[in-house]
Amino acid sequence: NALPRLAQIMPSLIRHLHDFAREVDLTVDEWTAGVELINECGRMSDDKRNETMLLCDILGLETLVDEVTAHMVSAASASGASTPTSILGPFYRPNAPLLPNGASIVQDLTPSVPWYDEAVASSAYITGRVMSSSNPSTPIRNAIVDVWHTAPNGLYEQQDPEQPDMNLRGRFKTDGDGRFAFYCLRPVAYPIPDDGPAGKFLALLDRHPYRPGHIHFIVSGPGHRTLTTQIFDDCDEYITKDSVFAVKDELVVRFEPREGDSQAQWSLEYDFSLEPV
Ligand code: DHB
Ligand code: FE
Repeated sequence: NALPRLAQIMPSLIRHLHDFAREVDLTVDEWTAGVELINECGRMSDDKRNETMLLCDILGLETLVDEVTAHMVSAASASGASTPTSILGPFYRPNAPLLPNGASIVQDLTPSVPWYDEAVASSAYITGRVMSSSNPSTPIRNAIVDVWHTAPNGLYEQQDPEQPDMNLRGRFKTDGDGRFAFYCLRPVAYPIPDDGPAGKFLALLDRHPYRPGHIHFIVSGPGHRTLTTQIFDDCDEYITKDSVFAVKDELVVRFEPREGDSQAQWSLEYDFSLEPV
């Protein structure tokens, strides 16, 4: 029953909207421009593109709501030792290929791929464990690590007709020690899609559209709260100026040079810690 919650939300939303309009002396023309911006975002959105979410994101709303939600959750639990959340963003796809540990999420990498050299130079091996934040902390077996990131051209597979279906996406199941491992690429900074209304709006505000290089994860395990998060490359120049405000200190990682592995130039060990439910 959503009614009690609506009864709480709506008076506050209306009060703040009205206060906002009064505070800035909002005119009919300005309000109409706002309505048109939202309309344009809606018209442009489909299953490959979520322009309305993008608009919310550049206003910091998804990050704020994620923060509020995490706060509600951890206030209700004992530990607080779990990995921080970060936003889902508009490019998640469910049902990424379920791959064995040690497999690569980079599909069909041949020299004909336009970003072949960048891909080789940024090839990375990521391993780690999925732990329970219970005290004492214990490994979670059969947890699922669902990962996705962009190609070196800054595009997710569904944005880019040159990439195979589900490229740079995969799901991995942890072993008895809670361990997962896969090959991927070191992420690059790239602009959020800025050829639509959200991008035009950003430009109007004189803001840049870049996100620091990041890798998305949804980590789920039996008996634990599912974690949606991202990790960020500490070498990235945009690490302190993410256009959607999603960076948190604990999620900043350093890739180390990897010796003796023809499949990877870089390596990273990163553990996730999930909240018991
Ligand atoms: C947004 C998030 C992403 O992870 C991304 O790759 C692009 C855009 C966003 O929050 O809008
Ligand atoms: Fe992203």
